[in-house]
Amino acid sequence: MKTTQSDTSLDARRVDFDAAVKRLRNGEVCAFATETVYGLGADATNADAVLKIYQTKGRPRFNPLIAHCADRAMAEHLVAFDENAIRLAKAFWPGPLTLVLPMNLDNGVADIVTAGLDTLAVRVPAHETARALIAAVGRPVAAPSANPSGTLSPTRAKDVLDGFNGQVPVLDGGACTSGLESTILACTNDAVVQLRAGAIAHARIEAFLGCEVPRAGDGSPIAAPGMLQRHYAPKCALRLNVEKPGQGEAFLGFGPLPDVSGPVRNLSLHGDLNEAARNLFAMLRELDASGVETIAVAPVPDHGLGEAINDRLRRAAAAKS
Ligand code: TXA
Ligand code: MG
Repeated sequence: MKTTQSDTSLDARRVDFDAAVKRLRNGEVCAFATETVYGLGADATNADAVLKIYQTKGRPRFNPLIAHCADRAMAEHLVAFDENAIRLAKAFWPGPLTLVLPMNLDNGVADIVTAGLDTLAVRVPAHETARALIAAVGRPVAAPSANPSGTLSPTRAKDVLDGFNGQVPVLDGGACTSGLESTILACTNDAVVQLRAGAIAHARIEAFLGCEVPRAGDGSPIAAPGMLQRHYAPKCALRLNVEKPGQGEAFLGFGPLPDVSGPVRNLSLHGDLNEAARNLFAMLRELDASGVETIAVAPVPDHGLGEAINDRLRRAAAAKS
């Protein structure tokens, strides 16, 4: 792995639980683990603190953030839940589901969190330390993924340290168990729309609600401003749906591997999409660091979690613009 600082100086940016609480309460940023990806947190009620998130990530100001809550009661203080939202929250929280809901008046959340929208994205993470951290801070914690804007999402503390060159303190909560960002649903006017495919499969949501859930883009006027085409990108090029890599290419497999000579990783030998989701970002990073110009990626079935995996792969492969 290439780093511009020694691992020891990067490790100096690891903080313990109490220090992370203190930083967040004092208006500083701190990265922390969730079950999906690491988040770069700041007190959502403090505009100056949230501004530091945008500056640290180089994130466009029009792209709103998710307010992470310790429990449903904290979220209910921030936004108005309709019937669908209540059912979804009861079933999938704590967990990798983000709900975009109309904001309550005077909820204390800084305008910069929502980039001026009148809706707010809220989520109660499953990671116990993340919930304990938010509870100890006593306020919602705004957090995008803890990576420089446009790069691969971090699923381990070391990814955060490497990504920001040790400039961002991190509370190490181990490797993310889910590995893909949360599924985002907007609940408005008693309808549900999927804004981002994520760690909970679309089919599971539809089966649970017992109705069709349209995806943003399929004629729905609602969208997540952050769904930029090129995103989650490694430094090298990506070639998708490849059965056998070419000379000099690295290979990211799924299922039994063909004969390959270059650097290789396997998302899941047995074709398990959960395992593939967990491995996706870390394996892309490792192959990216191997110095190849192109990573060839095996076809990944488009059902279940495959929808979100393929979404991330397509965005990572989109030509640089
Ligand atoms: O799993 C996750 O969701 C991770 C962890 C840290 O919780 N967070 C994450 O945040 O992926 P971020 O900022 O990388 O992605 C949040 C997405 C963006 O695409 C943003 O545009 C969308 O949520 N979003 C936030 N607020 C919104 C709103 N009010 N309306 C529509 N989309 C919104
Ligand atoms: Mg992100």
